[in-house]
Amino acid sequence: MAAQVSGQIATVMQEKRLFPPTAEFSAHARVKSLDEYQALWENAAADPSAFWAALAREELHWFEPFQETLVWNEPDAQWFVGGKTNVSYNCLDRNIEAGLGDRQAIVWEGEPGDQCTFTYAQLHEEVCKFSNCLKQLGIGKGDVVSIYMPMVPELAIAMLACARIGAIHSVIFAGFSAEAIADRNNDANAKIQLTSDAAWRRGKQLPLKAIVDEALEKSSTVQKCVVLKRVGNEVPMQSGRDFWWHELMESASSDCPAEPLDSETPLFILYTSGSTGKPKGIKHTTAGYNLYVKKSFQWVFDHREDDVFWCTADCGWITGHSYIVYGPLSAGATVVMYEGAPNHPDESRFWQIVEKYKVSIFYTAPTAIRAFIKWGDEHVTKHDLSSLRLLGTVGEGINPEAWMWYHKTIGGERCPIVDTWWQTETGGIMMSPLPGAIATKPGSCTKPLPGIIPEIVDEAGDLVDANQGGWLTISQPWPGMLRGIWGDEERYRDVYWSKVPGKYLAGDNARCDEDDYYWIMGRIDDVLNVSGHRLSTIEIESALVSHPLVAESAAVGRPDDLKGDAVAVFVVLRDADPNDDLRKTLKQHVRKEIGALAQPDDIHFTNALPKTRSGKIMRRLLKDIAAGKETVGDTTTLEDYSVLAKLRSDEE
Ligand code: WT7
Repeated sequence: MAAQVSGQIATVMQEKRLFPPTAEFSAHARVKSLDEYQALWENAAADPSAFWAALAREELHWFEPFQETLVWNEPDAQWFVGGKTNVSYNCLDRNIEAGLGDRQAIVWEGEPGDQCTFTYAQLHEEVCKFSNCLKQLGIGKGDVVSIYMPMVPELAIAMLACARIGAIHSVIFAGFSAEAIADRNNDANAKIQLTSDAAWRRGKQLPLKAIVDEALEKSSTVQKCVVLKRVGNEVPMQSGRDFWWHELMESASSDCPAEPLDSETPLFILYTSGSTGKPKGIKHTTAGYNLYVKKSFQWVFDHREDDVFWCTADCGWITGHSYIVYGPLSAGATVVMYEGAPNHPDESRFWQIVEKYKVSIFYTAPTAIRAFIKWGDEHVTKHDLSSLRLLGTVGEGINPEAWMWYHKTIGGERCPIVDTWWQTETGGIMMSPLPGAIATKPGSCTKPLPGIIPEIVDEAGDLVDANQGGWLTISQPWPGMLRGIWGDEERYRDVYWSKVPGKYLAGDNARCDEDDYYWIMGRIDDVLNVSGHRLSTIEIESALVSHPLVAESAAVGRPDDLKGDAVAVFVVLRDADPNDDLRKTLKQHVRKEIGALAQPDDIHFTNALPKTRSGKIMRRLLKDIAAGKETVGDTTTLEDYSVLAKLRSDEE
C-alpha cells in the first residue's frame, strides 16, 4: 500500500501487462513510434501557439486569415483571432474541392433495418437545402436551434446546416423528458425546435413529437417547430408553428454558400447533466473546436482513406458531435451511423453491422462492452469481424478485464485499443494512445495528445509524485476547450478555474505511473476515505470485475463511525445466483487482488446498476442507497427508474 500524504489518493492496483503495437500497424500509422510521438508532443509544448497556428493554416479553410493565434485572459480563451472560417465548409465543400465528392460520408442503418448512404456531394446538397429552410423560417447567425431527433442522417444534416449559417445548435438526446427539453430551451433562449414524429427504440415507437408538444408549452422562446417524418405515424401539427421537414425541403434551393464566420462564433451548446443541480450548457465555438476534433480524430484513430469508422455514441452527446459529425467529416472519413439499440432484434446487432459495412475502426463505451460480455461471446463469434483494425473506448474507465475481453473477443488480439479520456468540456480527446506509437496498458488512457499538458496536483495545487493519485488539471489552454457555460460566467470560473489557480480543473482524480502513463481514478467527489486512506472507485470495481462471475460493479463509501467510509459495492453477476458464500468469496477476492483496506464491507447483488442515459454509473444514488437514505437531488438523467426501485426493495 502506498504511503499516505494528505489530500492524495492511494493506488492499490497493479497492472503490468503491456501491449505494443505490431510492427505492421506502426509501419502504416500516421505516428509510427514513441520517439516520433514524443518529438511531436515536445515540439507542441515548446511553443503551443506556433504549433497550433501551423496546423490551423493547413487543416482549415480560411475565408480570411487569422491575425493572432491565442488571446488568453484566464479563463477566457480566443483562438485564431481575426480569422474567418466555417465548420460546415470544412466538413463538406473543402472535401469536395479536394476531389472527395463521391466518397461516402455517412452510411446509415435504421433500427428496423432500412439503410441509406450520403456521399460528400449528396450531404453537401442536403445541408445547403436545409440551411435555406432554416433561413426561410427566420433563423440566422446567433439564433439557437434546439434539436431533439433520433439518430438519423437528418440530425447530422441539421447540425451542419446550423454551422453553415452561423446558428447555434443545442442537441438534446432523444430520451430526455419534456421537462428536460423545456429547461434547456429556456436556458438557451432557443428560437426553433427540430424533431421527428417518433423514434424507433427496441422495436417500439418513442413519441418525440408528443414530448416536444408538451415541452413547447413551457418553452416560451421557441416560435417554430420542424418535424421530420421518420416513423410515419399521425401526429397533430399546429398550424403556423409546425412544419414538415419534407415539405420545406421540396422547394428549398441547394445553393447556400457557407457564411464566413469569426473564429470564435459559437458553434453549439451542449448540456451536460452534471452530477447534481442544474445542467450546464457547455459552449463550444468555431475554429478552435474544428481544428481540435479534426486533428485528434486523425491522431487517435489513425485515420486512413479506406477506413470505415463507427462511433456508436448518440449525437446527443459530445462524442457524437466530435466523432460522428465534426471530426470525421472534416477529415473526409466514411462514418457509419446506426439508429437503434445494440440488442435489437438481438444481441448480435452491432457485430452484424461491423460485418456488413466492413467497419475498420470501432469506438464504443465501457458500459456497452460490459453488456456484450454479459450477453455472451456466441453473439460475437458468429460474425466475421476481420475488417476491424482499431478499437476505442470512451466515457468511463475500462476495467482491465473488460479491456482484455475487448482485445481478445472483438479485436482478435490484433487491434490496438485506444482508451480515450476527455469530457464534454474539452471538446475532443485529451489523453489516449496514438495507436501506432504508444504501447497500451489495460485500464490506462496512456499519454496526452500533442499540445495537451496534464498535471496532477494535490489540494494545495502542488504537483504530486509518480503513482500518487491527485486532481487532474490541464495547464495550458487548447483549441478545443469550452468557452464557458452558457449564460453563467461565474459558474464557469468557479467550477473549472478557481480551485487550482491558473489551471483547468477536470474534476477527475488521476495518477501518472513511472512510465508517464496516466490512469483515471474516477470523479473527485467519488473518492472513498477508508480509515484515512483515500481510495478510488475504479480500482475496487476493477478488482471485482476480474472475478469470472462478475459482470459489472460499482463501489461507493457508506458512512461508518470507525472507518470514515466503509466500502459498499454493488455487483451484477454474469451467470450465477447470489448467495452468502459468493459474498465471502468476492470479499476474499478483492482482498487478495488489492489488499485488506479495500475489502468490501457490504456487497449488494443487483440485476442492474443505475446509469445515466449516456451509460455512466450514478454512484451518487448508490451512495444514498448504501447509506439507507432516500435519494435527494436530480435524477432526471437516470436511464431506468425501475433499477432504483428494485435496489431499494432489495434492501428491505
Ligand atoms: C467524464 C466526462 C468524453 C465523452 C463522453 C463523456 C469520464 C471519460 C474516460 C476514460 C476514465 C473517463 C471522466 C470524465 N471519462 N472518458 N477514457 N477513462 N474516465 O463525456 O459526459 O462530459 O464525461 O467521463 O470522469 O471527466 P462527459
